[in-house]
Amino acid sequence: MTTLITNIKELLQVEEQPKEMICGKEMKVLPTIKNAFLFIENDCIKDFGSMNNLPTLNANTTIDATNRIVFPTWCDSHTHIVYAGNREQEFVDRINGLSYEEIANNGGGILNSAKKLQETSEEDLYEQSAIRIEEVMKLGTGAVEIKSGYGLTLEAELKMLRVIKKLNENYPITIKATFLGAHALPSEFKNNKSGYLDIVINEILPIVAKENLAEYIDIFCETGYFSVNDTERLLKASTSYGLIPKIHVNQFTAIGGVQAGVKYKALSVDHLEEMRDEDIEILKNTKTMPVALPSCSYFLSIPYTPARKMIDAGLPLALASDYNPGSTPSGNINFVVSTACIKMKMTPEEAINAATINGAYAMGLEKTHGSICKGKKANFIITEKIPSYNFIPYSFGNHKIAQVYIDGKLI
Ligand code: NIG
Ligand code: FE
Repeated sequence: MTTLITNIKELLQVEEQPKEMICGKEMKVLPTIKNAFLFIENDCIKDFGSMNNLPTLNANTTIDATNRIVFPTWCDSHTHIVYAGNREQEFVDRINGLSYEEIANNGGGILNSAKKLQETSEEDLYEQSAIRIEEVMKLGTGAVEIKSGYGLTLEAELKMLRVIKKLNENYPITIKATFLGAHALPSEFKNNKSGYLDIVINEILPIVAKENLAEYIDIFCETGYFSVNDTERLLKASTSYGLIPKIHVNQFTAIGGVQAGVKYKALSVDHLEEMRDEDIEILKNTKTMPVALPSCSYFLSIPYTPARKMIDAGLPLALASDYNPGSTPSGNINFVVSTACIKMKMTPEEAINAATINGAYAMGLEKTHGSICKGKKANFIITEKIPSYNFIPYSFGNHKIAQVYIDGKLI
């Protein structure tokens, strides 16, 4: 099966050789070809270039993309898409003056979601989550990371991870799984944090690793949740099982989580709403991708990750949704990209780089996803007729996607 897309007004994020990630000043550059073609065979990008050099190609289908922009599908490297029920009452409670922390301390928050998830069957959890997977694919996401962490018991954590695995098998979108058993302390362990960590490390982790249910390990390193010592303890144990860290740090307080992530060679450190100079400094010249989640800042009305300061210091940055029932009930990366431009003063080029190639890196997918490159997955978005790519973040709250192709298939 071959498809040829012709007369593309502008083809974005093109590369000859797959890059690992894009850092600092280079993030302002978005390589493009105006008046371009794209040729795909089955699930792969076969060729692309200027219409002036269009070779004679025998395609099964030809699509005319006059006045439309084509770019790689979004790579969403941080989500909690598998969850049960919703938490709209907490949203109202926050409007009425309670803080995220107060709600959590009253048994709401993550524990509220854990209770719902424990009571939900695996089949029902799959159905609820599949609706969200279909939703984000239509919004242009072609690869996504999904965390466990609303189970908080052996049985419920494994249930979540099996649902993630099944979603990956049943949908064309590429899904990477992360084990987040240390997301919150179950109330039975209120005064026994190390007892809960013992279970995560000695009982759940070995099974997750043995059954190959997750590639990554995560922990909520935060005041009132898990300390830097807890984080180091977990990362040390999980490294011996071959799980790579991708951790929640510096969401509300900066307590040294970034340093712990770098020390244990985390693939990414995520959230980063609170960043001290030393947190920026320690990330320089490392392989750890900082990940910002602007929809979470928007929804909770907390500070935005200081993207300008970080990129100007030479760091790379990825953008992700954090789609979850508590802090970010949205998986719309088009909104994430707009918000990054509007609130974090990222340029459209920086935001698109952050949500494509750098997002792919933060999931270990930079060789197959995140750009228009020969041999990479045929994952791309065809926009409505729009005047320029600046129109993508400019049209906030109102995406300009006409068609999404994932694995060469029209979604
Ligand atoms: O990334 N911060 C930790 N975990 C999630 C929110 C969890 C929840 O409120 O359900 C986050 O924001
Ligand atoms: Fe999160």
